[in-house]
This record gives sequence, C-alpha cells and structure tokens, in this order.
Amino acid sequence: MSELSVNHLLGIKYLKKEDIDLIFKTADHFKEVINRPIKKVPSLRDITIANLFFENSTRTRLSFELAEKRLSADVINFSAASSSVKKGETLIDTVNNILAMKVDMVVVRHPNPGAGIFLSKHVDASIINAGDGTHEHPTQALLDSYSIREKLGEVKGKKVLIVGDIKHSRVALSNIFALKLQGAEVKVCGPKTLIPKYIESLGVSVETNLIKALEWCDVANMLRVQNERMEISYFPTTREYTQQFGLNKEILNSLNKEIVVMHPGPINRGVEITSDVADSKQAIILDQVQNGVAVRMAVIYLLASKINR
Ligand code: CP
Repeated sequence: MSELSVNHLLGIKYLKKEDIDLIFKTADHFKEVINRPIKKVPSLRDITIANLFFENSTRTRLSFELAEKRLSADVINFSAASSSVKKGETLIDTVNNILAMKVDMVVVRHPNPGAGIFLSKHVDASIINAGDGTHEHPTQALLDSYSIREKLGEVKGKKVLIVGDIKHSRVALSNIFALKLQGAEVKVCGPKTLIPKYIESLGVSVETNLIKALEWCDVANMLRVQNERMEISYFPTTREYTQQFGLNKEILNSLNKEIVVMHPGPINRGVEITSDVADSKQAIILDQVQNGVAVRMAVIYLLASKINR
C-alpha cells in the first residue's frame, strides 16, 4: 500500500491495518529526519495548514505545529479563546473564513464529538481530528502504538491495559480501535462507574482489581481522570480513586515482570500515577511525546499527497 485509504484522519475507526502500517513506515523515516542536525525537509513547501484549537492543549498543538514546520508547510494557528467565536461565529463560518485564505489542511480540536466528521462533510480541506470531545484522538493512539512497537518490537500479541476514566476518554477509545486492529489484547481497568457498558462489544475485557490487571499486562497506559467532562461524581474522593487505581512504585516493584508504563499526558502526579513511576525507566511518557512529532509528520505528509490542487 503506497497511499492512505482515507482523505481525512477523523478516527482510527475509519482506518485499515494497512493504513497504520504505512503511517508507521513513514514515521520511521521522519524519526530519522528529526534526529539529524538539520531537522527539516522541503516536502510540503506548497501546503498551508491551519491548526484550530477550540479546547486547551499543550502536547497535541505544539506537536502538530512542529511536525508541520519540520515538513516546511506554512502554518497558521487559531485559538477559540482569542477569536471571533466569542462573538457568536459558527464553526463552519470560522473554518470557511480561514479556508478563504487558501488553506489546504485543517487540524481541529473541539469539545464536541464528531466536530471533525462534520467539517469533513462541509468544507473543502483535508481534516485531521486532534481530539473531539469524548469521541476519538487518533494521532494520540497512533503515537501510543508506535511507541509500543518501538519498545517491544511489535504490537501484535501484546497485552495492553488501559487504566482509569475509560468513559470520558477519547484516548481510550482510539487506543482500543488501534490496538485491536493490530492484533493486541486489550483490557480496561477502573471504577465500574467509569467503564462504559458497551466496552466488551469492542473485544476488550474488564478487570476492576488493579493488581490483577497489572499482573496480566505487558503495557499499562494510565489515563487522567477527566474532571472537566464530569457533571456528577463517579467515585467518592480523589484519595480513594488513587488508593484503588493509582500506580505507585511499591505496586510496580511487586509485579512478577517488568511492564512498560505509558501516559498520554497531562499527568495528575500523585493521582493516577506517582512521580517516582512517571519518572522511572519503565515509563516511556517522553518517548511518546517525541514519537508524536514523527507520527504526525507521517499523517500530514500522507494526507497532503492526496490533496487535489
Ligand atoms: N495528550 C494530549 O492530548 O495532551 P494535550 O491535551 O496537552 O494536547
């Protein structure tokens, strides 16, 4: 396969296994590029990309911007907080005004699930979903799988545990789709109130005992509790959540094997993971961030090659 089967990256749900293989092969090349003294290639000199962030972000926004600049694309950045959205402008009007400035590709983060899908149907540009509410965060799942592949050789057959707030997590859903597509075994662990009832229909098993779940896995992906998406309390107190579902060094050292620890960030140190675990050799959290640039370069490069101009 030499090109993606899709014209937009809206979710992992829409990808084939061959798409992921192609993205990873392309990311391998770009990872070598960004470790050179001159970290830039001229590939996208004729492409303009708009990064539209309607929700807060540190890693994803900076990672996309760096990936675009490493590919020599022209980049414009939009943040809802300082825009005319505050004056009542609609999403389509905002995007069409930006496209009128001759933009080829839009990277969008939005609090509403389906925002990227909606844009792909109504505007004339290639759309990349950088996180849409509780729905999907496809580039996060791609960089997570890429990091597992880098650390353990392959994703197929690996036992991956996702711990925490599964219900509100776009990272969890995209990771489940990506990991299953590549032949990994996936288990989720967290308070019953934060595990959606449909989860087993995605081919995922559930374990509410953290120690048992950790004993099973090769990789543990520790998620942040998404307090900003909760209108009610899903567990009694943060202290009790940490006691039951937090990963600390004592637990990590008590396991019968050395597991890989991941976190998509931002970390709530001392809640879902203690600092000594987050900063340990077993944690690949900063490798995930570094790989994010190469993976996003690959996604942008492959989608740009499908744009008809
Ligand atoms: N992992 C992630 O999406 O982080 P940001 O919210 O900082 O982009």
